[in-house]
Amino acid sequence: MKKQWWQEKIAYQIYPKSFYDTNGDGIGDLRGIIQKLDYLKELGIDILWLSPIYESPLADQGYDISDYYNIDARFGTMQDLEELIAEAKKRDMYIIMDLVVNHCSDEHIWFQKAMQDLDGEYAKYFYIEEGKGDKPPCNWRSYFGGSVWEKIPGTNKYYLHLFHRKQPDLNWENPKVREEIYQMVNWWLEKGIAGFRIDAIINIKKPLPFKDYPADREDGLSSMHYMLAEAQGVGDFLAELRDRTFKPHQAFTVGEVFDIKPDEIGDFIGEDGYFSSMFDFGQTIIGSSELGSYAAKQPTPEQYKASTFESQHRVKEMGFLSNIIENHDEPRGVSHYIPQGDCGEQSKKMLAAVYFLKKGIPFIYQGQEIGMENVPFPSIEDIDDIATLEEYQVAIRAGLEPQEALQRVLPYSRDNARTPMQWTAGANAGFTNGKPWLMVNPTHADVNVEQELNNPDSVYNFYKQLIALRKNSQYQDTLVYGELEPVLQEAENILAYARKGEKNTILVLANFQNEPQKITLPEGYRIKEVLLTNEEGEETGIEIFLNGYEVIIAECAKNV
Ligand code: GLC
Ligand code: CA
Repeated sequence: MKKQWWQEKIAYQIYPKSFYDTNGDGIGDLRGIIQKLDYLKELGIDILWLSPIYESPLADQGYDISDYYNIDARFGTMQDLEELIAEAKKRDMYIIMDLVVNHCSDEHIWFQKAMQDLDGEYAKYFYIEEGKGDKPPCNWRSYFGGSVWEKIPGTNKYYLHLFHRKQPDLNWENPKVREEIYQMVNWWLEKGIAGFRIDAIINIKKPLPFKDYPADREDGLSSMHYMLAEAQGVGDFLAELRDRTFKPHQAFTVGEVFDIKPDEIGDFIGEDGYFSSMFDFGQTIIGSSELGSYAAKQPTPEQYKASTFESQHRVKEMGFLSNIIENHDEPRGVSHYIPQGDCGEQSKKMLAAVYFLKKGIPFIYQGQEIGMENVPFPSIEDIDDIATLEEYQVAIRAGLEPQEALQRVLPYSRDNARTPMQWTAGANAGFTNGKPWLMVNPTHADVNVEQELNNPDSVYNFYKQLIALRKNSQYQDTLVYGELEPVLQEAENILAYARKGEKNTILVLANFQNEPQKITLPEGYRIKEVLLTNEEGEETGIEIFLNGYEVIIAECAKNV
């Protein structure tokens, strides 16, 4: 694969609303990001992905855009953004924005005009369909619960929303809609952003005409997986999008792609793919249930390992995945993937190393670098996220008592990742002088930037060393481009792999459990030198003793 400017970079996701508030309104803002650029630079970050900051009613926290060309006043001004782009550039950093074009907001002017004239030009920007008798056009269940169809008052017509009813789906079949989108994308790229994270993109292609699929819950509705399995031709839209926008700008793009058909991976992220990269969500979906998150199960270390190797194997030389342990839609990775009761500094560092050194672009989500954990929300009233509120209702409808329902859905809540960034041990974790829009995790007394900067053994400093290692000229080639080969795959709760480069081979050996383990490296591997570990001691040779949650990153001896 041809080398690209972004392959050696480290990316960081900012959730602006919760990052840093500079004017005391309890909401993070662009000036807050500008103020923290040096912090991010010091950590070693190159690319910053900003979750949406466009004008929005914030029904889905900015993923419902009412004006693609404006910044929401709560986050700042266009001038602030221009300053952020310029300040990032001074530091050799790149800004990428969130591209949310499966849907817009029902407060977008296009939708307003559509509702004023259901036969007019703008109605064709959306999916507006006649009901079937007194029923909606089909039985799909929205990602956020309920029917995907919302009735338009005074008619028997409905509009389509795969997500919230305040997020009407844009009709990509209409060439005018596509033109509007390409124009907007180019406008942003010309402003100096380096690319986009592309939201919910697989959903832009719907199998038409609309029809029912088998109901899979008592609500009589069908999960979106059926329609996505049947949809054909999303690639035609994506190729056009690439050719008209990303490609001429050499943009870095990373797709949020669920439900991809396995034989299409090359089209998405191969040489000349629709996107530069896409997120590996293999681990994210472990344990999820069609019944709802109340019935979900936490992944086990063995499942985590299996999924790691499966994704890496599927993609191989074809392209670069983007690797995460969490994002703004997921619980905190350390709380989710580390077995209950075992989450601590050692295990956090172990998880950091095993995901970070896989092949692909490492993404760090804000707060992950200090080991932020899930939040003990006292009650459902403390939850803001529409998806969690719906999951709670699903659990109640399934017959769970309120307290039980809460305890079951909380570990999967998107709000776990959305509480304010923990800068200090002080009031509101140093995030704001005002009242934060979402509660602060009480763990900020122990888990915060200020303390971790000063502690050489902190999770933060471990991340910093991981980043430095991936950028170290001696190892960069191997850690960025080298193939990943599983090692000791059969050893229970051992997650180990080798990255094989032309100059050297690097081993990552992790003991994903509390019990110590002794392992013997297979033929061909012998540790020459430990490069980084979360334990004391310098292991060499082939007999390796691993403490609970120990991870060793080591260079292998040649010709063994
Ligand atoms: C993506 C976003 C999520 C949002 C949804 C609808 O999954 O990451 O936050 O709710 O799309 O835009
Ligand atoms: Ca603010």
